[in-house]
Amino acid sequence: MWTDLVDIGRSPTTGGYRRFALTPEDGQLREWFEQEATRRGLDLTVDRAGNQWAWWGNPDFDGPGIATGSHLDSVPDGGAFDGPLGVVSAFAALDLLVLQGITLSRPIGIACFSDEEGSRFGVACSGSRVLTGALDPDRARALTDQDGMSYADAMAWAGRAPHLLAPDPEALARVDTFVELHVEQGRGLIECKAPVGVASEIWPHGRWRFSFTGRADHAGTTRMSDRADPMLTFAVTALAANKQARSREARATFGRVTLAPNGTNAIPSQVTAWLDARAEAPDTLDALVTELCRQATERAERDGTTVEVTVESSTGLVSFDVPLRDRLAAVLGGAPVLPTAAGHDAGVLSTAGIRTAMLFVRNPTGISHSPEEHAELGDCAAGVRALADVLRDLAT
Ligand code: GLV
Ligand code: MN
Ligand code: MN
Repeated sequence: MWTDLVDIGRSPTTGGYRRFALTPEDGQLREWFEQEATRRGLDLTVDRAGNQWAWWGNPDFDGPGIATGSHLDSVPDGGAFDGPLGVVSAFAALDLLVLQGITLSRPIGIACFSDEEGSRFGVACSGSRVLTGALDPDRARALTDQDGMSYADAMAWAGRAPHLLAPDPEALARVDTFVELHVEQGRGLIECKAPVGVASEIWPHGRWRFSFTGRADHAGTTRMSDRADPMLTFAVTALAANKQARSREARATFGRVTLAPNGTNAIPSQVTAWLDARAEAPDTLDALVTELCRQATERAERDGTTVEVTVESSTGLVSFDVPLRDRLAAVLGGAPVLPTAAGHDAGVLSTAGIRTAMLFVRNPTGISHSPEEHAELGDCAAGVRALADVLRDLAT
């Protein structure tokens, strides 16, 4: 399975993955999922939000089942494991359960969530958010990519009917419990010296768009004192974000910036920058963003520019179901339990009231959202065995 996926959307120059929603690469990945499901005789469905499901057993007759899975899309120049490891491990765990000859008392489903990273349209987990009703379909349809193409038009391009995009309570009702396996995106399991761990919670996090507006002018003839340069306001705001995050033991990143007119010898008229901020507690995150907006506004006044801040997405603290997480840790012989500051579809499902847990597989580089993200084959196999043990415990 890994060999089939390895070339899809991989940049020959960076070795990173560019697998964005509703693109030809996304189409190939969806086709791969269909083939793996069909090859195993699973029942393949696509929910109204565009997420793919493959069921072993029939949740409509046999009652809600145990679902696992993850996503196949990536950030720009992402690693191979963030997402795909959870989907491939789900199929591999199911194969192991078939080999073990288990008899299910509940169906098992594999999900492939659409557009988890939000790399193209800006809102992370749009597939699971539309599914659960956390993202209004009208808002989703109106999102645009960097070329101005709307989500609705991209859906139509991909052969999907935009007007059918909707929450899908029937698809959600098939899921009693959801367990997502994911590569760890930090160093927790390296420090615990464990190949597999269980998630305790997801930090609150969100994305804010900062639009700085100034006045375009000549880079040579305009005296420094006569400028209204939004790049300057942005630069000071980026430094402030770093300082605010450090002093609160939180995280703040401007990882995406566009500017106009983007010429070497022109003072910019417009800088748009996206803030990704996260903190252990919701109050800390609120205080960080509020203070940053205050400092950006104050700086804009000094620079003769303006700044407008728009929330693009916001996710509260996710505390995974404690009895379930303890049960998983026990089934796995006392696996470590650890929090994460990364967002996941599992968090969206948990917020929607589904009993949810996550397993993490050790990442020896501790690096993620980069081609350097990694997992050793032995640890991946340990992850598959752990997932199979957990599914067997929950579904038999
Ligand atoms: C998902 O990978 C995130 O950005 O948290
Ligand atoms: Mn990710
Ligand atoms: Mn992921």
